[in-house]
This record gives sequence, structure tokens and C-alpha cells, in this order.
Amino acid sequence: MMLRFQFEFPQHHAPGFDASSPVSESGLATTAHLEDTVGSGSDSDCFVFDNLGVAPPETSWLPGPDYLLRIIRPRLMVPMPLDLPVWPFFGFWVLHFTRIFRSPDYAVFVVFRDELPVHYTAVVPKYFRYPLMEPSDLLLGSIWTKPGHRGRSIARSVVAAILRTYSGRRCWYLTRTENLASMSIASASKLRPIGRASRSSRFGLRLLGSFRLSQKDKRCPL
Ligand SMILES: CC(C)(COP(=O)(O)OP(=O)(O)OC[C@H]1O[C@@H](n2cnc3c(N)ncnc32)[C@H](O)[C@@H]1OP(=O)(O)O)[C@@H](O)C(=O)NCCC(=O)NCCS
Repeated sequence: MMLRFQFEFPQHHAPGFDASSPVSESGLATTAHLEDTVGSGSDSDCFVFDNLGVAPPETSWLPGPDYLLRIIRPRLMVPMPLDLPVWPFFGFWVLHFTRIFRSPDYAVFVVFRDELPVHYTAVVPKYFRYPLMEPSDLLLGSIWTKPGHRGRSIARSVVAAILRTYSGRRCWYLTRTENLASMSIASASKLRPIGRASRSSRFGLRLLGSFRLSQKDKRCPL
């Protein structure tokens, strides 16, 4: 029973999720091939990936049985889940209930250990910042693992669980090019590189800007 989080919690494990299986010991996946296909860019660029044609892994592994994955959905009367940061989760709550999100699928996958969150990944519907997305598409965003629990394949496992949960939906993944850990998650998840996106500003605010494709992967027909 999670009282600390005040979203509505139809709490359940993601399908096929095995919290007791051993953690992967594999090292940092190379991202050099991505540089080969989309070239190098400025530090403010993002790499864009999606899951089209990618089979989601059948199982994911958390480091041990004391790690528990729960899927958390927003609740109208509770704007802030207490242990999640105000930004971006209050913003997501607003975008969900004002229906600026183009589908009702907003959710947060949270991993708990000893009743405390040690990882979260948001499943974010299309909204104005992502003109690349179709209304039914989803974005995996705001991925975070608590320091001290990093490098144990938690993020990779949760991304796998999300891709499996929403298999059949197009899922997007954006990451800063210099974020090696995040790039490795995309690579380990075998996501399809689409290209580079850069973020524009609106009314002088980057927050209101949108991500647009600036350079396509040579192999991608998008
Ligand atoms: C990015 C982040 C979520 C990764 O979480 P994590 O639970 O440690 O990730 P995992 O253990 O599942 O590792 C995923 C991959 O990244 C690699 N990795 C992990 N930490 C790394 C680091 N510091 N540098 C390079 N690669 C790293 C792992 O080797 C693994 O690759 P592999 O599967 O080929 O072995 C975490 O580092 C974090 O919270 N960073 C700050 C927030 C952030 O940058 N979020 C991403 C925004 S897009």
C-alpha cells in the first residue's frame, strides 16, 4: 500500500516482469554506430529513437525481489505525488487533466525499494512539444534512477517493461547525445535510431518550444 504517492494506483506488475531474476552484467553498449548513421551534432541536440519493427524483450530483470515495479496513474484531486519531483510531474498532471495530452495514457513506472522510489520513467502522450509524434504515440521520458542504485539495469529493465506493456503502440525515446547512460538504454533496448532533433523556443521559453527533426538517420524512411 503506497501512501507516499498520491496518484491513483492500480498497482500491478508490468506483464512478464520478473523481479527476482538476476541482473545483467553487460557493460556499456557502444553508441558509435549512431554517430556513423546520423553524424555528430551540437551538445544541445537529441538523438531520437522509436520502437517500430523492434520486438520488445520477453522478460526484464530487476536487481532482486526487494525491488518492486508499480505503474502509477494520475488522480484528479492529487496534483503532486509527494515523493516525485514537482518538475516535471506537476506539469504532466496539468497536461493530463487539461487534455493537452492527446491520449489518456499518461502513467509513471516507478521502482520501489523499501517503499521508497529508486527509479521512475514517465509514459507521456503526444503534446505540442513533440510534433513528430502521432496522437496515439507515446514518449518514454523523465527517466531517473537514484544514485546508489544506478548501473544495476533498473532503467533498462523498466524501459523493456514499458515497451512490452505498450507493444503495438509507437514509442519514442529522446536523449541528449552526451548522456552516455541514456544512450546505452536506447541501444540496449535495440530501439531504432531516427535521427537528431533540436529544441526550439517559443516566446523566448525553451520549455514551450518543440523538438523537430534536424537530421535523419540515413537508413530511416521517416
Ligand atoms: C540514465 C539513468 C536513468 C540510467 O539509469 P540506470 O538504472 O543506472 O541504467 P541501467 O543500469 O539500466 O543502465 C543502462 C545502460 O547504461 C549504461 N550506463 C549506466 N550508467 C552509465 C554511465 N554513468 N555512463 C555510461 N553508461 C552507463 C549501463 O552499462 C547500461 O548499458 P548496458 O545495458 O549495455 O550494460 C541514470 O543514470 C540517471 O538517472 N541519470 C540522470 C537522469 C538522466 O540523465 N536521465 C535520462 C534523461 S534522457
